[in-house]
Amino acid sequence: MTRSEALIDVSLQVNRRPVRLQVDPRESLLDVLRERLDLTGTKKGCDHGQCGACTVHVDGRRVVSCLTPAVQADGRSVTTIEGVCGPGGRLHPLQQAFIDHDALQCGYCTPGQVMSGLACIAEGHCDNDAEIREYMSGNLCRCGAYVGIVAAIRETARNAETR
Ligand code: FES
Ligand code: FES
Repeated sequence: MTRSEALIDVSLQVNRRPVRLQVDPRESLLDVLRERLDLTGTKKGCDHGQCGACTVHVDGRRVVSCLTPAVQADGRSVTTIEGVCGPGGRLHPLQQAFIDHDALQCGYCTPGQVMSGLACIAEGHCDNDAEIREYMSGNLCRCGAYVGIVAAIRETARNAETR
């Protein structure tokens, strides 16, 4: 079988835009986003499902895109960090809160942290800091910006409640 015979057609929405492409069944969603769609905001840390740097949303739920075959995204809606900001590139309140609370140092983990943080808020897992830490535990930060990350998520969740 040649490579082209093994390719599979997929249609998906990426950041609200329709995308059609052919993928190798072994290709990860992470590699398709970064290498083929030029959406390099999503980071490749471990490539083994252990660091959370590659977190994106598929149909609104967080997934580690390094362990998600791109074919599994067929017919689904994918949101990456590039799709989070508002009109004109206005930062999402959680992105702004990361800046306000010094929740990043090198910033490498930040896109994945923001995507997980958004899910954590949407899932209602922000009652207290311990709960936020528990539901963010799949996202590692080698710089140790955890205190700021928890503060940013806590503040954004509270502001969303009072809006
Ligand atoms: S790159 Fe996917 S979890 Fe680390
Ligand atoms: S800010 Fe550097 S890895 Fe998190």
